[in-house]
Amino acid sequence: MSGPSTTCPIDLRDPGLLADPIRGFSRIREESPMTRALLAGRDAPIWLATRYEDVAAVLSDQRFVNDPANVPGVDAAAIRERMLEARGIPREYARYLFEGVLDADGADHLRLRRLVSRAFTPRHVQALRPRVEKITEELCDRLPGTAEHGVADLMEHFAYPLPITVISELVGIPEADRPRWRAWGRALTSLAGMRPGALAEPVREMVGHISDLIAHRRGHPADDLLTGLIRAHDEQGDRLTDAEMITMVVTLVFAGHETTAHLIGNTVAALLAHPDQLARLRADPGLLPGAVHEFVRRCSPIHGTRLRYATEDIEVGGVTIRRGEAVMAVLVAANHDPRHFADPERFDITRQPDPRRETHLGFGHGPHYCLGAALARQEAEVAIGTLLRRFPGLRLAVPPERLDRQPVPMFWRLARLPVRLG
Ligand code: HEM
Repeated sequence: MSGPSTTCPIDLRDPGLLADPIRGFSRIREESPMTRALLAGRDAPIWLATRYEDVAAVLSDQRFVNDPANVPGVDAAAIRERMLEARGIPREYARYLFEGVLDADGADHLRLRRLVSRAFTPRHVQALRPRVEKITEELCDRLPGTAEHGVADLMEHFAYPLPITVISELVGIPEADRPRWRAWGRALTSLAGMRPGALAEPVREMVGHISDLIAHRRGHPADDLLTGLIRAHDEQGDRLTDAEMITMVVTLVFAGHETTAHLIGNTVAALLAHPDQLARLRADPGLLPGAVHEFVRRCSPIHGTRLRYATEDIEVGGVTIRRGEAVMAVLVAANHDPRHFADPERFDITRQPDPRRETHLGFGHGPHYCLGAALARQEAEVAIGTLLRRFPGLRLAVPPERLDRQPVPMFWRLARLPVRLG
């Protein structure tokens, strides 16, 4: 099989790796489990951890931090400046992108995470279920009307609108503004967005928009996360800065829809490409809660984590990561590690019969474990269950190998998902 060489630093934009990341990263894991890779905007190569055991070790070891400013002797400002430069984001907006839970460590991280974590507990998520079901049924009602020549695009008319509606209602983003969020999300996560200067305008617009929204919500409090954040900021200023409040909104809205939309899209595509698994699920919808774990293991769009920085020299998987060096945990490689999963490339919806257990690393691990995991699982379960029930003849409108995958490193996603509704 062709693919990147593992003897010199891996180029994460290698076409072979982008075309088949599961195979590509599995090969890297078997040939060179702790290896180096080149990342746009970084002078020094980063480390890639690919084995399950090493990925779990990196993500749970608190000697690795997310904020390079927490590594003595490292010029964090310079690192961030280079990353911003590479993505064409004006420097004055850095603080709105880097002052969130994803980039915080220790006490700061806990403080930020606790401000919103209550909304994502299993009990709160369970209470949202009727609303998630209603939104999903309504999208299914409208789907046939979106078909042209019998073909509907499930990404556009189902996989995206469901999570963006759910997270917007939770955060407090007005309906009229949601299409703009989708456009910003697209810009921030696409290859086009990596062209110099491409993100200046979307980021400027987005930050301005959130500031206006906050100003408006101050006068019109509601039962949403934004109102809670404003209260934390205004009543106990030491708990949340302006930039942190904006970053939290950006993080929740993007983490809450770009990920879940593609989890749903990738899963529908995988099920329609594996008629045996689809038939089992149709025959026994009770398998669904357990199957969701396999959907995340096999179909997650998030193939790698944010970088972790070593605060001292740390041994992982037989190599020494030097203080200040960066590591990416390659979740897709860990989730297909044969030391942990039998026949890992097989898509098997009954792989994990106990729906209460999670053995994959698709939602990360350790202190930054996905805050939205319970909500994302519920949305995926409702989405797939409802879609299969409402459209018994659902099938792909193009062969699986001709699906339009967007070549974005570490983010596995479909541009479109053309289906016939039956
Ligand atoms: C982390 C929110 C869906 C994968 C996070 C974090 C937030 C978040 C706020 C940062 C947690 C922290 O740093 O303490 C959400 C919301 C979701 C959602 C609101 C939807 C309702 C998903 C989905 C996936 C995913 C569908 C993949 C299948 C991850 C991963 C991390 C993460 C891998 C860890 C990143 C790291 O350690 O660097 N999520 N997420 N999330 N999320 Fe989600």
